[in-house]
Amino acid sequence: MRIYAAKDYKDMSRKAANLISAQVIMKPDAVLGLATGSTPVGAYEQLREWHDKGDLDFSAIRSVNLDEYKGLSGEHDQSYRYFMNHNLFDHVNIKKENTNVPSGLAQDAEAECRRYDGVIRELGGIDLQLLGIGGNGHIGFNEPCDVFEKGTHVVTLTEETRRSNARFFSSIDEVPTHALTMGIGGIMSAKKVLLLASGEAKAQALYDSCFGPVTPGVPASVLQLHNDVVIIADEAALAMIRQKTGWEGEVYDN
Ligand code: GLP
Repeated sequence: MRIYAAKDYKDMSRKAANLISAQVIMKPDAVLGLATGSTPVGAYEQLREWHDKGDLDFSAIRSVNLDEYKGLSGEHDQSYRYFMNHNLFDHVNIKKENTNVPSGLAQDAEAECRRYDGVIRELGGIDLQLLGIGGNGHIGFNEPCDVFEKGTHVVTLTEETRRSNARFFSSIDEVPTHALTMGIGGIMSAKKVLLLASGEAKAQALYDSCFGPVTPGVPASVLQLHNDVVIIADEAALAMIRQKTGWEGEVYDN
């Protein structure tokens, strides 16, 4: 994995948008694996700006999102479908029918997970998977557990994740208890992975993911086994890596 240091959130977002736009320019019908959460918002903003300037064309791009809360409709303002429409899809020339987010309202959630894996397969796999990271090292909604789950599956969210995501809801009671998430196998089959991390709350998880043992107890640690991972992290998120490894530069090949 290659780690790029960014000065701050803005710098991280701009660097990330640069890599995503390179993918879009090099392969105009690429399959982008997209992520939600506060971390990628700035990168999406930058992509919108470049699209508005006429520098980016999403008309043939296909996308698959990582996850969705179980029980929320796409119109719910905290659903990840709503997030994607609001932060990116409604503002660029991507065709909505080419965008995929698991359905949080599917009657049979297990069947929806199998359908979603089929969608990823039919698209021919993911060219570039964008990831954030949870404070406990989760990616998508793959929470710390005993095994790496391969396919898309239903998860029970940890209290820590629900508490941390409660800031977007009016109270923690409104945060769904379950979600549908792409599995570790789906994420690992992406040709390229781009993980973003910002803020001191991510410093421990980022250190463990990059330098600790590969374990489902820290889901992002599995990325050490992928041969094309780029991490862009701001100084606050890099604090523990800097401290424990003594690295002072801008790029680290691990
Ligand atoms: C959620 C999402 C993840 C995201 C994580 C971190 O749980 N399912 O994809 O990476 O939150 O969120 P944030 O970027 O807001 O810190």
